[in-house]
Amino acid sequence: MTSTDASTKTSLTGIKPTDTPHLGNYLGAIRPALQLAKSFKSFYFIADYHAVTTLRDPIALQKNVYDVAATWLACGLDPKEIVFFRQSDVLEVFELAWILSCLVATGQLERGHAYKDAIAKGVEHPNAGIFYYPVLMAADILLYDTHVVPVGKDQKQHIEVCRDLAARFNHVYGEGVLVVPEAHISEDAPLVPGLDGEKMSKSRGNSIPLFASSKELRKVVMKITTGSETLEEPKVAEGTTIYELTKQLTPSIAAEMAKKLAAGNYGWGHAKQDFFEALDAELGPKREVYESFRADEEALDRILAEGAERARHVARATMHRVREAIGIARPIGTMRSTVSLKRSDLPV
Ligand code: TRP
Repeated sequence: MTSTDASTKTSLTGIKPTDTPHLGNYLGAIRPALQLAKSFKSFYFIADYHAVTTLRDPIALQKNVYDVAATWLACGLDPKEIVFFRQSDVLEVFELAWILSCLVATGQLERGHAYKDAIAKGVEHPNAGIFYYPVLMAADILLYDTHVVPVGKDQKQHIEVCRDLAARFNHVYGEGVLVVPEAHISEDAPLVPGLDGEKMSKSRGNSIPLFASSKELRKVVMKITTGSETLEEPKVAEGTTIYELTKQLTPSIAAEMAKKLAAGNYGWGHAKQDFFEALDAELGPKREVYESFRADEEALDRILAEGAERARHVARATMHRVREAIGIARPIGTMRSTVSLKRSDLPV
């Protein structure tokens, strides 16, 4: 695909507001998605109705939505370029989800990872939202004529369901009504390790916050687990948490670090200090933008509402095609009188 092709294509992704984003989200999702958006027409949205499948604390949900919005904006999302909105602001998504649910076999949903995981964890009857999750996600994607969906490996199955649904819809109701999307998964994307070397995640308590003060950030970085060699000993960088994190943040600084470690007389404390400085240099300016957005929820609401307006525009056009394809279409403004219209009175 050439870059000129790409700019006319749409990329879309959803961000579930279940937590405040951390460094793992930044390196693994935010930074690459913003990079990809440079060559696509992009729709990035906050998947608040997906969060409701597991998050039942209204105050936390609202806070997370603002945290996520401010984080992406601080990391460089330009809302003029990228259509940035709340999932819940475009109600058409539920209509499409219903239509799609009538095309999916329950067996396919029973094989869903999230549903199976919930059962494996001992939840005898997971809520129906968890079961239905992939259908809403398919609607999210298909509503905006999406070509590529940048996601992590864990979402691969969801994209497969979405592709199946789009293909089935087109097969049943007419080729070309829905765009069949592709996942954009960097297979070789390394996991971002947390303080203890395991995958960074909020629930594991090993995450590095994105927008803590310099002082706090340094304190957290100093907690990263390292080897216990003496200062003088030469050390191997490869495979250590501090080196992996530095490599994912800034490869050139990591290369330097590897050389210094191999040469000896450079301790793990020095490596942590170098990583901290690189991290603080990257996050410092973003931290200020974050703070100013976070202090102005009205501004965030306004940005998201403008995004929703643009998103709705596309959503309505898709739903018009979809309704027409399935036989639910009617002339605009005649919702109640349609019954008396003869078939030949309807627009073709
Ligand atoms: N399921 C995704 C996640 O957990 C979030 C999501 C919801 C999404 N709708 C989407 C991602 C549509 C991509 C496209 O991360």
